[in-house]
Amino acid sequence: METKVLHFRFTWIEHSTRTMKRCSVVLHWLVVSCWLFFPLGVSSLADTLGVGQEMKDWEHLESSNVQFQLGFFSSPSGSTNRYLGILAQEFYYPNETYEVVWVANAANPLTDSSGVLKITQEGTLMINDSRGISITLNSEKYLGMPSINNMSARLDDSGNFVLRSSGGNILWQSFDHPSNVWLQGMKLGLFDLKSGKPQHRFLTSWSSLEDPDTGDFTLGIDENQNNTKQLVVWKRGVVYWSSGFWNGYNFNLLSEHDLSYDLGNFSLNFSYFSNENESYFTYNSFYQSNIWFRLDSSGVLYLCHYSSCDKAVVNCNPDQGDTVSTGCVMPKPSKCIDGDVFKETRQLMKPYLYLPNSSLGLSDCKEICRTNCSCEAYASLNPSDGSGCIFYQGLYEGPKYTWSNASVLYVRNNTLAGSVLALIIQQ
Ligand SMILES: *[C@@H]1O[C@H](CO)[C@@H](O)[C@H](O)[C@H]1NC(C)=O
Ligand SMILES: *[C@@H]1O[C@H](CO)[C@@H](O)[C@H](O)[C@H]1NC(C)=O
Ligand SMILES: *[C@@H]1O[C@H](CO)[C@@H](O)[C@H](O)[C@H]1NC(C)=O
Ligand SMILES: *[C@@H]1O[C@H](CO)[C@@H](O)[C@H](O)[C@H]1NC(C)=O
Ligand SMILES: *[C@@H]1O[C@H](CO)[C@@H](O)[C@H](O)[C@H]1NC(C)=O
Ligand SMILES: *[C@@H]1O[C@H](CO)[C@@H](O)[C@H](O)[C@H]1NC(C)=O
Ligand SMILES: *[C@@H]1O[C@H](CO)[C@@H](O)[C@H](O)[C@H]1NC(C)=O
Ligand SMILES: *[C@@H]1O[C@H](CO)[C@@H](O)[C@H](O)[C@H]1NC(C)=O
Ligand SMILES: *[C@@H]1O[C@H](CO)[C@@H](O)[C@H](O)[C@H]1NC(C)=O
Ligand SMILES: *[C@@H]1O[C@H](CO)[C@@H](O)[C@H](O)[C@H]1NC(C)=O
Ligand SMILES: *[C@@H]1O[C@H](CO)[C@@H](O)[C@H](O)[C@H]1NC(C)=O
Repeated sequence: METKVLHFRFTWIEHSTRTMKRCSVVLHWLVVSCWLFFPLGVSSLADTLGVGQEMKDWEHLESSNVQFQLGFFSSPSGSTNRYLGILAQEFYYPNETYEVVWVANAANPLTDSSGVLKITQEGTLMINDSRGISITLNSEKYLGMPSINNMSARLDDSGNFVLRSSGGNILWQSFDHPSNVWLQGMKLGLFDLKSGKPQHRFLTSWSSLEDPDTGDFTLGIDENQNNTKQLVVWKRGVVYWSSGFWNGYNFNLLSEHDLSYDLGNFSLNFSYFSNENESYFTYNSFYQSNIWFRLDSSGVLYLCHYSSCDKAVVNCNPDQGDTVSTGCVMPKPSKCIDGDVFKETRQLMKPYLYLPNSSLGLSDCKEICRTNCSCEAYASLNPSDGSGCIFYQGLYEGPKYTWSNASVLYVRNNTLAGSVLALIIQQ
C-alpha cells in the first residue's frame, strides 16, 4: 500500500534580506492551519494555466519539479503591495530562504488581494483586479494566433513561465523579460536585430532591498565595438564593471575562482551565440540546477545557491571592507581628507540637505556625498523604496532622540584621516 505524504509549507518574508523564509512540515493526513504566514497562496493549480482559467491571489502554480512557484506576494513584508512573481524554493531544508527570481508588475503593484492572473478567450495573458487595473503580459505576439482555445501558460522546471500555442510554439515567456535574476538558460543580449527596433535584454536591479521597481544597475552585454564581447554592469548607463573579453570559454577578468562556490561543484558553462537576428550570452551548470545570478540594489552581483546569495561575484563597493572585484571601473577619488569609504551604521547626525527627487537612488546619494567634502554621511530619504537623499554634517545634539530612533546612515569613515591628524599633532 502506498503512503500518501502531504507536503505542507508556510513562509514569511525576512525583513532584512528580502528573501522569504519558509518552514516545511511533512504531515501524514494531518492539516495544520498557518494561513497567516503564506506569502503565496496555499492552493496550488499544478503547473499550468489554461484559457478561461483564473489564478486568484491566494493560489499559485508550481513547477513540476517543485523548485519554482508563481503567485502573488507582498513586498515589503506585510505591506499591501501585491506583486505577481516567481519564487524559487529551497526544498530540502525547511528553514532555508525563498528567493524572488522574477516579478511581472515591478512598477505597478496591486494594492489588495483581488488580483487574478488569467488567459482570456482572446488569448491575452493578463493580471487584473477589482479596481479595474489590468496589466497585459503578452502584448503583440499572440495576435492572430489560431486555436486560441488550446493556449496554455506553464511554469517550466527551469523557472520560465511560458505561454504556448496548442502547437507548442512559444508566444511569450518570462525569460524574455528578466528582472534582477539570471536563471540558467536565460539569454542576455541583443534581439530582433533585423527588425529596425533591436531589443537590448538585461537584468535590472531592484530600487531597494524590498522594492522591485527599476533600480540604478543593469547587467547585459556591451556593444562590442572591436568585435569583442563582454558582460557589463552599468550604473545608470555608465560602465561600472566589465567581465573582460570573452575568449570562447570564459572571460578575461572573471576567474574560475570568482565563480566557484564553497558548497558544491558548480562548473558554470557560459556560451555566446550570434546570428543575423540576435547575439546573446547564456549559461548552464552541469551539476547544479539550483544556482543563479542576482544583481542586487547596490550593484553587487551574487551567485546564489538555492536561496542563499552570499557569494559576491562582482562587488565594486569597498564600503563594508570587501575587496573590490577585478573589472570594476572606480570613480575618480574625491581627495577629501576623510576619504571615500562610507560605513553603514546607525547614528544620530544633523541633516543639512534633503533631495526628495524620486529618481535618485542610494548609489546617487553616495556619489553626491562622496564628491562634497563637507558631506559626512548620506542616507535614503525613503528607505522603503530607496528613493531620494538626505545628507548629514555633524552629530545631532538635540536631547529627544534615542539610539532606537537613529536611522541607517552611511558615514564617511575617517579612521585614516584621524590617524594622519594624530601624526601631525605628534610632530
Ligand atoms: C536549518 O535546519 C537544519 C535541520 O533542521 C539545521 O541543522 C540547521 O542548523 C538550520 N539552519 C539554520 C540557519 O537555522
Ligand atoms: C478583469 O477584466 C475583465 C475583462 O477582461 C473584466 O470583465 C473584469 O471585471 C476585470 N476584473 C476582474 C476582477 O476580473
Ligand atoms: C485542443 O487540443 C486537443 C488535443 O491536443 C485537440 O483534440 C483539440 O481539437 C484542440 N482544440 C482546438 C480548438 O484547437
Ligand atoms: C578597438 O581597437 C583599436 C585598435 O586596436 C583600439 O585603439 C580601440 O581602443 C579599441 N576600442 C575598444 C572600444 O576597445
Ligand atoms: C565535479 O563533479 C564532476 C562529476 O561528478 C567531477 O567529474 C568533477 O571532478 C568535479 N569537480 C570538482 C572540482 O569537484
Ligand atoms: C555548454 O552550453 C552550450 C550551450 O548551451 C552547449 O551547447 C554545450 O554542450 C555545453 N557544454 C557542455 C560541456 O555541456
Ligand atoms: C532571422 O529572422 C527572420 C525573421 O524572423 C527569419 O526569417 C530568419 O530565418 C532568421 N534568421 C536566422 C538565421 O535564424
Ligand atoms: C532628479 O534626478 C535626476 C537624476 O539625477 C535628474 O536628471 C533630474 O533633473 C532631477 N530632478 C529634479 C527635479 O531635480
Ligand atoms: C556641499 O555641502 C555644503 C554643506 O556643507 C553645501 O553648502 C554645498 O552647497 C555643497 N556643495 C555642493 C557642490 O553640493
Ligand atoms: C525616539 O524614541 C523614543 C523612545 O524610544 C521616544 O520617546 C521619542 O519620542 C522618539 N523620538 C522621535 C523624534 O521619534
Ligand atoms: C572606520 O573603519 C574602521 C575599520 O573598519 C573601524 O574600526 C572604525 O570604527 C570606523 N570608524 C567609524 C567612524 O565608523
